[in-house]
Amino acid sequence: MNGKTLAQYQIVEKIGSGGMGTVYRARDTRLDRDVAIKVLPAELTRDPGRRTRFVQEAKSASAVNHPAIAPIYEIGEDGEDTFIAMEFVDGSTVRQLIQRDELDIGAAVEIGIQVGDALASAHRAGIVHRDIKSDNIMVTRDGHPKVLDFGLAKLVDHGGGDEDDTIMADQKTMAMTQAGMVMGTVAYMSPEQARGLPADQRSDIFSFGIVLYEMATGQLPFHGDSALDTMHAIAFDKSVPIATMREGLPYALQRIIDHCMEKVPDKRYQTLDETIDDLRKVKRQLDSGASMSMPFLERWRPARDGLKLGELSTRGAIVAVAWTLILGSLLITVLSNGGNLWGALPFILIGLMVFGHFRRRRRSMVDRFVNKTKKMKEVQLISWEEDHFVVVVEGAVARSYLKLNATLEGVNDKLYSGRAMELEVRENLSAAELRELAVGSKVRYLRKGL
Ligand SMILES: Nc1ncnc2c1ncn2[C@@H]1O[C@H](COP(=O)(O)OP(=O)(O)OP(=O)(O)O)[C@@H](O)[C@H]1O
Ligand SMILES: [Mg+2]
Repeated sequence: MNGKTLAQYQIVEKIGSGGMGTVYRARDTRLDRDVAIKVLPAELTRDPGRRTRFVQEAKSASAVNHPAIAPIYEIGEDGEDTFIAMEFVDGSTVRQLIQRDELDIGAAVEIGIQVGDALASAHRAGIVHRDIKSDNIMVTRDGHPKVLDFGLAKLVDHGGGDEDDTIMADQKTMAMTQAGMVMGTVAYMSPEQARGLPADQRSDIFSFGIVLYEMATGQLPFHGDSALDTMHAIAFDKSVPIATMREGLPYALQRIIDHCMEKVPDKRYQTLDETIDDLRKVKRQLDSGASMSMPFLERWRPARDGLKLGELSTRGAIVAVAWTLILGSLLITVLSNGGNLWGALPFILIGLMVFGHFRRRRRSMVDRFVNKTKKMKEVQLISWEEDHFVVVVEGAVARSYLKLNATLEGVNDKLYSGRAMELEVRENLSAAELRELAVGSKVRYLRKGL
């Protein structure tokens, strides 16, 4: 490609490649300036509907004028090639800075404020980035952050396509994930994107939280061995607190990151303006060298959670209190009747019923999980042993995992006490493996004909 021209752009060198194509540094011979050219793969631009949508989105995105947004100059064509010409940013991506350990916490917060401000102004114009990640943020040699690829996510449309119904979007996400298209992006997806649901500006706020986390700790908060595992972690897992990963991080930053990364959009910051306000406070704190340690109550939390009381859920606590009240009333009735048990009979009966309910709870929750799960057509086998379910599925998609885990979460929530039940999902087992599993553990469901 080097030396080749595309329209008025003379390709100088390749600078990188990503999910959507290859990026080159090029010279705009008409305006005599350096540009970055991203050549798009033909399969993404072949469909005219998708192409039009993308061009529209990229045009409106390039209308957002902000010093921390790298503008798109044009979307051009030359022969077979479709390309995007955009500002060439002379610097490093945030990911590279993290890998080279070149970001201290002050720089991370400063980048956060500027990138947040850029995103906030796009959001005000009704534009959602949808692909915020440390590869898509560069910092110029003189230290100015620039957000790249605004409006380009529409081309791959991973999750949140407004015109697609949920299932279609879900399947698309899966197809792309399997093709490795958005592999790098999966780790930054919001839970709603991972589920293939529509994504609004709050989805960017989630991804922004992931970038903050990554800048602060050098690690990603959610990662798994496969794209599916990562999506699963995004949808359900709690991230490890930043303070345990790097010494001396301001506690206020932890709170900001957690608030960005709330699983439910309604619980997150609703606008980035609020996030930036909080980041500015952290910056002032850092500049003034004020104490950044955890407030007393938060330090106390691990100790409080460690108490055995934690074994009992809220629901369990309510039942335990009810149980105590019944026993108490029983005792009072017996005593006030001069030891006559007949007057206390109704209490004894109620008490026994409650006790029975309490004891059967875990078993009935296991039944509930099995009954709900066996209705899923991809499920082949469900086994249960020592608080551990194994579910074997055939041709699983992300939706299967999300649904299985949501069901488990639902029944775990209804347990009164004891350990939460766990779930292991296994995919596409051979007939021999299935048979081995079916013999070796307590099988609760086996699809007919297996
Ligand atoms: N405008 C630009 N100026 C300078 N370098 C750029 C520019 N755009 C991209 N790059 C470089 O090219 C690399 C690849 O970018 P590309 O956008 O294709 O992939 P990505 O960001 O990893 O994935 P995605 O397709 O999701 O954006 C970037 O990591 C960056 O180093
Ligand atoms: Mg990019």
